[in-house]
Amino acid sequence: MLRNLIFTYIAALIMSACGVSGSSDAESRINQKVDSVMKLMTLDEKIGQMVLYSSGWALTGPTIKSGYLDDIRKGQCGNIFNANTAAYTRKLQKIAVEESRLGIPLLFGYDVIHGHTTIFPISLGESASWDLKAIEKSARVSAIEAAASGINWTFAPMCDISVEPRWGRVSEGAGEDPFLGSKISAARVRGFQGNNLADTLTIMACVKHFAAYGAPLAGRDYNTVDMSERVFQDVYLPPYKAAIDAGAMSVMSSFNEYDGIPASGSKYLLTDILRKKIGFKGLVVTDYTSINEMVNHGIVANEAEAGLLSVKAGVDMDMQGEVFFKYLKKQVESGEVSQKTINDAVARIIRIKFMLGLFDDPYRYCNEAREKRLVYAPAHLEASFDVAKRSMVLLKNSNKVLPLKKGEKIAVIGELASSKQDLLGSWAAVGNINYMNSILDEIKIYNGDANVLYAEGCKKMGEDRSGFAAALSVSRRADKIVMVLGEDSEWSGEAASRTSINIPGVQTELLEKLKILNKPIILVLLNGRPLDLSKENDLVDAMLESWFPGTMGGKAVTHVLFGEYNPSGKLTMTFPRNLGQVPIFYYEKNTGRPLYLPNPKYKSRYIDCPNDPLFPFGFGLSYTTFAYSDIKLSTDKLTENGELKVSVNVVNTGGVLGEEVVQCYVRDLVGSVTRPVMELKGFQKISLKVGESKVVNFTIKPEMLAFHRADMSYGTEPGDYKLFVGGNSRDLKLAGFKLK
Ligand code: BGC
Repeated sequence: MLRNLIFTYIAALIMSACGVSGSSDAESRINQKVDSVMKLMTLDEKIGQMVLYSSGWALTGPTIKSGYLDDIRKGQCGNIFNANTAAYTRKLQKIAVEESRLGIPLLFGYDVIHGHTTIFPISLGESASWDLKAIEKSARVSAIEAAASGINWTFAPMCDISVEPRWGRVSEGAGEDPFLGSKISAARVRGFQGNNLADTLTIMACVKHFAAYGAPLAGRDYNTVDMSERVFQDVYLPPYKAAIDAGAMSVMSSFNEYDGIPASGSKYLLTDILRKKIGFKGLVVTDYTSINEMVNHGIVANEAEAGLLSVKAGVDMDMQGEVFFKYLKKQVESGEVSQKTINDAVARIIRIKFMLGLFDDPYRYCNEAREKRLVYAPAHLEASFDVAKRSMVLLKNSNKVLPLKKGEKIAVIGELASSKQDLLGSWAAVGNINYMNSILDEIKIYNGDANVLYAEGCKKMGEDRSGFAAALSVSRRADKIVMVLGEDSEWSGEAASRTSINIPGVQTELLEKLKILNKPIILVLLNGRPLDLSKENDLVDAMLESWFPGTMGGKAVTHVLFGEYNPSGKLTMTFPRNLGQVPIFYYEKNTGRPLYLPNPKYKSRYIDCPNDPLFPFGFGLSYTTFAYSDIKLSTDKLTENGELKVSVNVVNTGGVLGEEVVQCYVRDLVGSVTRPVMELKGFQKISLKVGESKVVNFTIKPEMLAFHRADMSYGTEPGDYKLFVGGNSRDLKLAGFKLK
């Protein structure tokens, strides 16, 4: 059989690991192997590698359309997503390897966004940890569990910058900032892929959604994106690029249009920017049926034209659309699509299958014993607990009402307090609520059943107030009230845009009722986007943003509330005072009429609300306090090949050990185009014991100050800069320097 031929040949060739950053020797060996497989393939089989179909899920486990099974057999389906478990992926792989003519193994993709079985906080939450090691660890654990369940490809990280809290998918990203977003995207890729894709503890990453998907007009998912090329290149592009530079081997084209062309048909995005400018060498997959959707966009008249546009733009693989499957062969035969275009795309896909070790052992990710051992492994739960604690942001803590003291009588209020599903957040892969506790469960475990009183009070949505009386009566008997309020987890993520960013339903009304009791109220928030918390901020004594914190979220919230862990998270998206301020982000422009001008009216301001947000980017409190010294600079003149050392002394001036995210920003005062009032250029998370101080250093190099100048060339411009260091983007020490 031919397929046996391939495997014998491959076995002889695979002596070396096929690392992501392998030497050119290893690369040329892989290329030879790819060529040898390609030579055996028919056009049908080649097109078969360019499609990706979804498996379904029934109560009894994973399923797949029988048509797709036949396609696998015929060598006309080379890739499956949403199939899961070692046993099921083995079954499908067996068909591909043993029943298709060439036996080319399948890729198995899945949305492993913030955990596979052990769920970590939603990505926006994780980003608030500003802890790259923790974020990398989360991606690694996710990869280990997914790889043990037959998956070798995740559709993550989502690298979409967003300043749009109405958009539900901000929950899947790293917030508003391109510098932090880039660091986090790269950390996630390192976590998923490690340095050897063939390692069975790693999976291939997929950078998505390329490009600019995070800027839909009015925050409505899938809506038109319209931004300047300059903003695209300076703000939205860097995190995708950072992920690719970190070795990500696949990229997903987005649903949205960019400058009038849907991304899946944009040669500009997929070839000029992605391949030529960034130098991406891996495979480009579309988002779900986004080729077909180009007909609705009105850029092509029918699906055949859509397929043509997208393959010519640079798409290698059609996710779920069946467009390549239906039309590509004819288009090659008629000469509309060149053999070379097909060969290039297929070679990229086959190459990745080699890199993943699938030709060596197609069942390497389908080991049931390993799956059993690794899924929900205690170390993974521990990691999720750790990251969840690090992600939480203390937004308010008047009169040190937190931490709670063990033994205090606590009233716990809110449907979300007893919910497990909501702790997991959206896109929670195969996270299972049977393996976890709610916040209420954990508060009881920690504080003793007798010291915890619970009333639901109201649902997270709807108008029902019938539970208010019980909540009031329970709260009357308590020392402190812990309210767990927020959003349903499915109110974030895909197709979950909102026109209000308030806490839904009558939850805040219940809070107002409880306020009458005059007892300390602690608000724990579960949500996947920046919310308008203006009202709540006035009513409560403390506020803890816990996002959707994952499998160990109940315990993590409890440990933060009781001071077992001192919160250290900082916001990565600005929290506005109200929706009218949106979009609001810290790197805005000064305008010609900035707020500080003396004229009371004719300047860039609202007449009914301050300009500044409720909680700025980078903000988060601790149970301790930190004092910053003035900034010391190694020089006030930065030369072309020089560097500027920035240092600041930070002291823990409070009563407990704590961690602080020290942030460094710059402002370019005059440019050939106007420049943001601040841009993050460095951060460090440090831990300080009581009374301890540390000198925190940052290095500014000229290339860190580069941007797209008036003529769109990329580089620096000489002139005066301001430099700021502090614990958030509002409260900062100031210095200045000159770039020569
Ligand atoms: C989403 C992607 C996801 C894909 C596959 C799409 O609807 O936009 O982020 O990876 O589905 O599940």
